[in-house]
Amino acid sequence: MGKTSKDKRDIYYRRAKEEGWRARSAFKLLQIDDEYHILDGVTKAVDLCAAPGSWSQALSRRLHETCKNDKKTAESVNPIIIAVDLQAMAPLEGVIQIQGDITNAATAEEILKYFANEQADLVVCDGAPDVTGLHDMDIFIQSELLLAALNITTLILRSGGTFVAKIFRAKDVSTLYCQLKVFFAEVSCAKPSSSRNSSIEAFIICKNYSPPEGYVPNELASFLEKYNSTKLASLTGINRYVIPFVVCGDLDQPDSDTCYPLNFEGKEYKYHEPTQLPISPPYAEAIALAEKENVNLKKADASIVIHNTASKCESSPCNKQITEEAKNDLATTPNRKKEDEEDEGPIEKFDLVESFVDFHIM
Ligand SMILES: C[S@@+](CC[C@H](N)C(=O)[O-])C[C@H]1O[C@@H](n2cnc3c(N)ncnc32)[C@H](O)[C@@H]1O
Repeated sequence: MGKTSKDKRDIYYRRAKEEGWRARSAFKLLQIDDEYHILDGVTKAVDLCAAPGSWSQALSRRLHETCKNDKKTAESVNPIIIAVDLQAMAPLEGVIQIQGDITNAATAEEILKYFANEQADLVVCDGAPDVTGLHDMDIFIQSELLLAALNITTLILRSGGTFVAKIFRAKDVSTLYCQLKVFFAEVSCAKPSSSRNSSIEAFIICKNYSPPEGYVPNELASFLEKYNSTKLASLTGINRYVIPFVVCGDLDQPDSDTCYPLNFEGKEYKYHEPTQLPISPPYAEAIALAEKENVNLKKADASIVIHNTASKCESSPCNKQITEEAKNDLATTPNRKKEDEEDEGPIEKFDLVESFVDFHIM
């Protein structure tokens, strides 16, 4: 795979590198904001599932910029942006980072400490678990993660605040809409043009947080269980909530599913390295584990079979370390791929360099 093939294939990926975003997802948040103005008046924002950090970058650029402009006319409050992820993230100017799990209530307490026990105006969540390739399972896990995000949001979002989160538009999405409608006065679903049409990803935009009477924050699961069995289940047919579906992004924005020539838009093409490589990717651990001789690799482990990695990824210390591990891996178990293929049939190869890049393509 050539160095520029992804640049040709995906114009948002290319633009993200040109504009210094850590991932192409930044455009999704910006396009959502163009349509819904979710950042207007926000001084406290939380980015759940933030790594590698392009949404936090977008929040930081927009909120700090607005604050600077406001200061010219009146005294304004400095924005506080908190980014949470299971994975470590490289530092970002103007963003406080918490390495933590959004399914854990202790993470909410930590967030609130930074807000001096005030609550957030905006919570965004672009969370995605590692996909398994089993679609039903992936959709289920995604909706569980969304409910975890909603649960923590009910602890940290102020009344009237906004919640934006990634969803997979699949079979049971209308139940999810109904559940969100219980907590927010306005719920709609957005598909930014930078999100590929070929993907079932979309974003729910929930405005005006107004929890129902009697709701105790952090008890979402038991609340919804009771609520589902009484109120939601009785809503059928036209009585179910109809959620607007809005495509965001100007019509003149490029199409995320189209391949564009490198000189598209009349600019001379220049290759850019990804803005920020992951600093501690989970697959580094997988590679290290695979080094141990007694590891009996199964097909599920096949993604750590490495090929053509040695020469390409020398630039960051993290890459160097992985490259060394990869070389070592190949040296110590030269027949592993062959053995695996004999056991399990053909194995999909995994290019380590691509995986670094892919991490930034969300
Ligand atoms: C698609 S990426 C987010 C990309 C990010 N919005 C950006 O623009 O750079 C999804 C992230 O969700 C995180 N994640 C998944 N489950 C999580 C959990 N339970 N708690 C915190 N983060 C989680 C993953 O570690 C991953 O970094």
